[in-house]
Amino acid sequence: MSQIKISRVTSLKGEVIPPPDKSISHRAVIISSLAEGRSVIENFLPAEDPMRTIEAFMQMGIEIIQSDDGKRVEVAGKGLNGLREPSAPIDCGNSGTTMRLMSGVLAGQPFSSTLTGDRYLLKRPMQRVIDPLAKMGAVITSEAGGLPPLHIKGGRLTPLKEYRLPVASAQVKSAILFAGLYCDGETSLIEPGKSRDHTEMMLAAAGAEINSTGYRRSVRGAAKLKPQNMTVPGDFSSAAFFIVAALLIPGSDVLIKNVGINPTRSGLLAVLKGMGAGNGHIYIHNERVVSGEHVADIRVKHCKLRGAEIGEDSVLLAIDEFPVLCVAAALAEGATRITGAGELRVKESDRIAAMASELSKMGVKVEELPDGIIIEGRKSLGASDVSSHGDHRIAMSMVVAALCANGGTTVDDTDCIETSFPGFMRMLEALTD
Ligand code: S3P
Repeated sequence: MSQIKISRVTSLKGEVIPPPDKSISHRAVIISSLAEGRSVIENFLPAEDPMRTIEAFMQMGIEIIQSDDGKRVEVAGKGLNGLREPSAPIDCGNSGTTMRLMSGVLAGQPFSSTLTGDRYLLKRPMQRVIDPLAKMGAVITSEAGGLPPLHIKGGRLTPLKEYRLPVASAQVKSAILFAGLYCDGETSLIEPGKSRDHTEMMLAAAGAEINSTGYRRSVRGAAKLKPQNMTVPGDFSSAAFFIVAALLIPGSDVLIKNVGINPTRSGLLAVLKGMGAGNGHIYIHNERVVSGEHVADIRVKHCKLRGAEIGEDSVLLAIDEFPVLCVAAALAEGATRITGAGELRVKESDRIAAMASELSKMGVKVEELPDGIIIEGRKSLGASDVSSHGDHRIAMSMVVAALCANGGTTVDDTDCIETSFPGFMRMLEALTD
């Protein structure tokens, strides 16, 4: 288990290109594998999580060829019904996205399969995908409480009508939409809020009949998906660590290039604006559209932040940025109260408890709420030894906190960074030269 030792830095300066988007990389492999013919994915994220999705399809007979750096991927899709029964359980590793999205695909297959994962994934709730997929006709068994491994007996599915998701979730929505491809007729769902919309955009681009109105999504089954050439944008959720670090460290001026700014992903920008980081500190420029996604370069300069009230709607559009937002709050003037964030308790770790425990080690006054956190901002953070809780986003957030601490800080158990951001420390170090 590796650890990272960090000392305070005086400023961050220069340019970075964040790694390719993790969510879009998973979906690109899934949709290409189910399309009829050869797709090419450029700027794929060759990190542990999306590699699990590639391996899953290779196990089911899809030919996938990657360039030496892993970023160019050719997928020989065999159509919706071209998958072969896997001879062994599919290991999703730490990747909740692989497990939940694949469950939707596997529900529609004329064979049985098993989805398993690492010790963290085996504790994550899957009832949210089991319920709708079982209603569609798949037979899914799990451990008590809806925990993985999932054993899925797929088959002919019947469409769901107006299925109401208990929580807004892009993973559950995607599982239902993928399963909907295997139904005769229209499957529809309604979310209680707006989750990231990559699946519906990418399925529509592949020729599926998708409709989106408000929080309702529908898909018509039995369509053919066409192969595509696509380019994955940089991951906003990875860029977020640099955005917050540059805001917090005096004298910083960082240009983050090629960042996906899909509005369902980039809610952190509005939250930070509410904390004082407006146009003078965060500039969005060179806006363009790449493979249907909005992309821009983001320049960030240091700014004194102030505390804010952050509610459910904002949290949803910045769901994966909660840990690094807690670091921003810890160094803001006054208190920050984040609510409506109960889902954070069932991510790669309980991110509310993890951030409360690790920031308090650095001297921050923190109060945990059942669905959020109250953080009293301070002028500086105390040096301490902190842990990642085995969660990549906690690890990188604590590295950002450590850059602002008075003295050396050690972040423990940092191998997990590889799940989404190989090269994170090298990229950070390049800004401190
Ligand atoms: C993801 C959706 C989000 C997010 C996760 C990735 C995706 O989870 O937190 O890291 O790629 O669909 P929800 O399914 O809870 O929205």
